[in-house]
Amino acid sequence: MLPPYRIKVVEPIAFLSAEQRRMAIASAGYNPFNLRADQITIDLLSDSGTGATSDAQEAVAALGDESYAGARSWFRFRDQVGSLTGYPFILPVHQGRAGERVLFSNLLKPGQICVSNTHFDTTHANVELVGARPVDLPCAEAADLDSSEPFKGNIDLDALEHLLDGPDGGKVGLVLMTITNNGLGAQPVSMANLKATSELCRRHRIPFFLDAARFAENAWLVHEREPAYRDMAPRQIATTAFGYADGCVVSLKKDGLSAVGGFIGLRDEQLHAACEANLIATEGFSTYGGLAGHDLERLAQGLREVVDPWYLQARAASTARMAQLINDAGVDTVQPAGIHALYLNAGRLLPHLSPAQFPGHALGCQLYLDGGIRCAELGSLYLGAMDENHQLVTPAPFELVRLAIPRRVYTDTHLEYVAAILADIAKDPERVSGYRIVSAPPILRHFKVRLEPL
Ligand code: F0G
Repeated sequence: MLPPYRIKVVEPIAFLSAEQRRMAIASAGYNPFNLRADQITIDLLSDSGTGATSDAQEAVAALGDESYAGARSWFRFRDQVGSLTGYPFILPVHQGRAGERVLFSNLLKPGQICVSNTHFDTTHANVELVGARPVDLPCAEAADLDSSEPFKGNIDLDALEHLLDGPDGGKVGLVLMTITNNGLGAQPVSMANLKATSELCRRHRIPFFLDAARFAENAWLVHEREPAYRDMAPRQIATTAFGYADGCVVSLKKDGLSAVGGFIGLRDEQLHAACEANLIATEGFSTYGGLAGHDLERLAQGLREVVDPWYLQARAASTARMAQLINDAGVDTVQPAGIHALYLNAGRLLPHLSPAQFPGHALGCQLYLDGGIRCAELGSLYLGAMDENHQLVTPAPFELVRLAIPRRVYTDTHLEYVAAILADIAKDPERVSGYRIVSAPPILRHFKVRLEPL
């Protein structure tokens, strides 16, 4: 599948020797977040803010109007976001989590519950920071990593209805649907599930919002997998999805095809006024929200490019091809392949390591040691419950590793290289050693934890 672009500007990548990589990861406390970018050959840590911009985006960036208030760039951004989402009120923010903080501090009260198909980690943290409780209700199909059910990102509608009708129903202050479901294998949410959730929330008079960081990729997977939407263009599907909700919070570092940015979309005028006051005090005036005029321009153009069916189809095909190579090499990934990332089943590949020895983390470190590849663990190191001595008390349900794929950055040759390194590890998995924690912060552990090999 040919991507609809060719490369005009390139950036060198680093090739370190095996010994240099061994020293680099040791001095990083075996935490890939502590590595320097120039110590990495292929960086699959995140698809956030890591995409390549287009010549059209760089051209319009030159039109960036840096006026403090009422910049022309703001109106171009607002019109693009407004027509995509259909929301009358748009507030720009510098990235998704800033939007979460502004929105939740005005929408949620201490003691309330925020329900999601799965909260992303910063979303989870921002719900807790306002004194509310995040509750995840993923659909049952999500628990079977190998099944090829098309919409494993869905929320469990029965469980949601049960919660809303039960004794805690009155405490639910928000239902937030993450599209695609980043915490659960990049799986999409169906339009049927969005519509049913929307109706349920309306009946219970509970605000229903989207965390729509990957709205275009979700739309593409709906186009591919939900028969009623086969003839609808991705942009129209995305607009329909936004239409089911009362508002959204969006990180534009993913499907905005830019390094920074985000927005809050709202229908409610009062909520908009409250969020706007908070935004002005903490992010910036409401016509720039922490962004420069040139960022707003790149974003407005990026939002046009990201819904191109050809682009989405090529990106989805590239991820699916990589999944096939990895699966053929004997490494299982969460099925079916999504678009922005592949999730390796490290628990299954490394059965000689117990969850307390962090098999996902061990596989991630091995990918760096053997190939200079950086990625992120999504297992017991990230999600497990631990005591004050950093001993694992409750393991995560799965020991996964996420290979996030930046947009328009790596060619299939780069991805083949990653698959080849993994194939080598899969030939002799017993040589991968486990890890133990040396020190860890009290919250958002994975970012600053330090470890050592066993
Ligand atoms: N929601 C989702 C679903 C996300 O994946 C992210 C970020 C955010 C919110 C927060 O947005 O980074 O702009 O503040 N995800 C990145 C990742 C960091 O690697 O998955 P942000």
